[in-house]
Amino acid sequence: MTLPDIKTSLPGPKAKALIERDAAVVSPSYTRGYPLVIKRASGASVEDVDGNMFLDCAAGIAVNSTGHSHPDVVRAITDQAQRFLHMSGTDFYYDLQVRLAEELAALVPIDGGARSFFANSGTEAIEACIKLARYATGRSNIIAFFGGFHGRTLGSLALTASKPVQRRGFGPFMPGVFHAPYADCYRCPVGLKPDNCAAECLDFIEHQLFMHLMTPDEVAAVVIEPIQGEGGYVVAPTQFLERLREITSKQGILLVVDEVQSGMGRSGRMFAIEYANVKPDVIAIAKGIASGMPLGVAVARADLMTWPPGAHASTFGGNPVSCAAALATIKLLKESLIENAAAVGTHMHDGLKALMEAHPLIGDVRGRGLMIGVELVRDRTTKERATQERDAVVNAAFRRGLLVLGAGKNSVRFSPPLVLTRDQADTAVRLFGEALSEVEDGRI
Ligand SMILES: Cc1ncc(COP(=O)(O)O)c(C=O)c1O
Repeated sequence: MTLPDIKTSLPGPKAKALIERDAAVVSPSYTRGYPLVIKRASGASVEDVDGNMFLDCAAGIAVNSTGHSHPDVVRAITDQAQRFLHMSGTDFYYDLQVRLAEELAALVPIDGGARSFFANSGTEAIEACIKLARYATGRSNIIAFFGGFHGRTLGSLALTASKPVQRRGFGPFMPGVFHAPYADCYRCPVGLKPDNCAAECLDFIEHQLFMHLMTPDEVAAVVIEPIQGEGGYVVAPTQFLERLREITSKQGILLVVDEVQSGMGRSGRMFAIEYANVKPDVIAIAKGIASGMPLGVAVARADLMTWPPGAHASTFGGNPVSCAAALATIKLLKESLIENAAAVGTHMHDGLKALMEAHPLIGDVRGRGLMIGVELVRDRTTKERATQERDAVVNAAFRRGLLVLGAGKNSVRFSPPLVLTRDQADTAVRLFGEALSEVEDGRI
């Protein structure tokens, strides 16, 4: 099968009909960048309802870690579905939830043993982290970062500082949340270069927040994505994460790492924080953990998670079918897919970087493993953000059969299934180059 293979104009007739029905009855708050109506999918290939075949470098927003409908994951799901679908792990016990918690305790880079709280999504995992941090420390304030995205429920939303549209109209927000500049090295908030940086942007926390707004002993946690996802696939340098750990440890502040998007092998390591010499206190996981089944987890140092029965729980959290999918996913990640993400990720990164020579729209290529961002600019010197051009490139890629998503104001994210092959990566890079040319030549 050749991939991609586009046979109709897009959207095709069946897709068009469904999109019209959707517009009448589904929330308009969803951010559909282009009109893809999926019929079925396998690995990194997606077929739409009109028979068009796409190469998937979006993976349902970095979720289908093992590829679409991996046979081992589907088998684990169907086997479990035949046994029982639900028994609320908050009120009863089942083997799968315990096994998954044991597996996670062994996987996370947290010292001293770990316990898991199970939820259904990334935002719920973050809610659990916020509540746990406040409960365990007896402190109320939280520090998050500009550009960060932690979800859209009201607790998480107070931390989210990615785009105004995500917050506008929903305030007032949970009090006690403060934002600091993130280490965006392409646009350094304190005007330094990565090679002469000692994470001076963190001075804001020590010399502004702790000087003028609160004392450190009021802060329960710092919540950070080691690679900002929705904010534009921005990679925090290791010295930034390490200095943050020093500051938080010194002040008895918990370090909560949001690995909802960067975790579960996507970065080429199980967790992106492993690139730094940092042991966090809590890790939030979701998206890729169960290959597409809903599951969110807050994994915390065992001695922190001592809240009493009833303090926090979720009826559906840790659903047995999702736990079965997660165990099958983790097995595949450990066997080969993390390694594949690292190797194919490096290859793809190099391919995208090589496009810079012919494509002035590309300002920066960055990322780890198969979490790669390409920032588009109108001018490499001024770094003026090419927002409309980015949207046009994403659409031009779609028309060629390549599925990618925007991130931040002007970046394109490549978050393919971790089964992506080198050949598929080459195809994606070639199609992306063609899409860039189309926009650069003003053919849109
Ligand atoms: C880093 C990060 N945290 C939290 C979330 C929220 O996850 P969910 O959409 O599952 O609530 C997301 C979603 O994109 C995310 O990327």
